[in-house]
Amino acid sequence: MEKKIKTIILAAGKGTRMKSEKSKVLHTIFNKELLGYVLDAVNDTGMAEENFVIVGHQAEAVEEYVTKNYDNAKCRLQSPQLGTGHAAFQAYEDLKGFDGEVLILCGDTPLVTAETLKKFVEAHISNNAALTVMSAIFEDPTNYGRIVRDENGNLKAIVEEKDALDAQKKIKEINTGVYILNWEKVSPSFLEMTADNAQHEYYLTDIVKWTIKHGLKAQSFILENNEESFGINSKKQLAQAAKIMKNRVLDKLLCEGVTIVDPDTTYISPETEIEADTIVYPCTYIEGKNKIGKNCKIGPFARLRGGVELGDFVKIGNFVEIKKSKIKDHTNVSHLSYVGDSELGSHVNIGAGTITANYNHITKEKFNTVIEDNASTGSNSVIVAPARIGENASIGAGSVISKDVEANALGLTRAPLRIIKGWFERTNK
Ligand code: UD1
Ligand code: CA
Repeated sequence: MEKKIKTIILAAGKGTRMKSEKSKVLHTIFNKELLGYVLDAVNDTGMAEENFVIVGHQAEAVEEYVTKNYDNAKCRLQSPQLGTGHAAFQAYEDLKGFDGEVLILCGDTPLVTAETLKKFVEAHISNNAALTVMSAIFEDPTNYGRIVRDENGNLKAIVEEKDALDAQKKIKEINTGVYILNWEKVSPSFLEMTADNAQHEYYLTDIVKWTIKHGLKAQSFILENNEESFGINSKKQLAQAAKIMKNRVLDKLLCEGVTIVDPDTTYISPETEIEADTIVYPCTYIEGKNKIGKNCKIGPFARLRGGVELGDFVKIGNFVEIKKSKIKDHTNVSHLSYVGDSELGSHVNIGAGTITANYNHITKEKFNTVIEDNASTGSNSVIVAPARIGENASIGAGSVISKDVEANALGLTRAPLRIIKGWFERTNK
């Protein structure tokens, strides 16, 4: 779709119920910030040309995260925080004169997908609406704003729980907090907002009534899967969202032909690609961005920390940790090893307990290890990076390798073995 939109992401709120010093939107699932999921979903639509993130609570930390990771996002400070309408208003000056559509969403809803956002924008544009609100149906709508309709079923208003009449509280269609509006037509509503409500806040939801009052078309778009609107307000909800996300990923991978022996104890991040016929054994934790080929075996009890690329027929066994490493076909890292910042060729065998020592904790620098095709490391060897182990080279068990080992050579650091006869008798007189 050609249409370009701009977005406002509300992320200034305190998040009191998280009971945390940290901003709510900087809490993570699979080591990725909640706000990052929202920004990625927005960017993955391919429609967002500019994003405004409204920051307030822990503004500096949130702004640092946004500017470091997103080129097309700018932060705008909301201080003090006077409500969602007041929050969105902080981008008003920036958007002056913009003649397109503005998508408004919250920074604490990491389960929203790009596909849904695209459908939402399309429903708005194809119906020529001035304002479209994303709604969802919940058996228990407690705490959400309710979608109020007139006798003909047309959208009339959004009423917050705290302002709702008893009859309105029974409404199961709720406001997800995602809106798209034609900026030119609807933005004047921001200048007329009042805080005349139970919470004495400027409610963004008031734009619905305003739009209708001005004879413009306002509609709701009902979310097919209400899980996508799941907002995080507490640590409990953070854990619930992580579980929903993980199950979503596992379902997708299972459909694509990956074997997951025990979905209950397997955690795989949404940014991990795995090809068919790979088997993931129980108690495996995979976070960050990774690419795993076909016919691999991962786990049980393996941890992939991101930036991991595995070819085909690679084996990552129990109690193995891999970080930022490329490993080619038919290579085994079977047990109790750490491989970080490394490149491993094909048909490499990493003996149990091999460590790539990649980190200088004083200078905080990290160094690379390269292990070429067919090389092998004996059990309990340490490769002090930077180091290169050449093709067909072997590392003797128990060695500490602090230099390159050339192709076809044996690298060995080992005190000579002494055998002292009669030790038992000597020590048990
Ligand atoms: C809001 C909606 C409600 C909807 C619900 C969906 C309003 C008045 N109500 O309620 O209809 O069902 O979301 O989850 O909009 N924020 C700011 N600045 C502020 C206040 C909030 O940036 O001054 C941000 C928060 O960080 C959060 C978002 O806006 O990301 C929503 O705020 P929150 O206080 O959680 O709104 P709800 O009461 O849940
Ligand atoms: Ca909320």
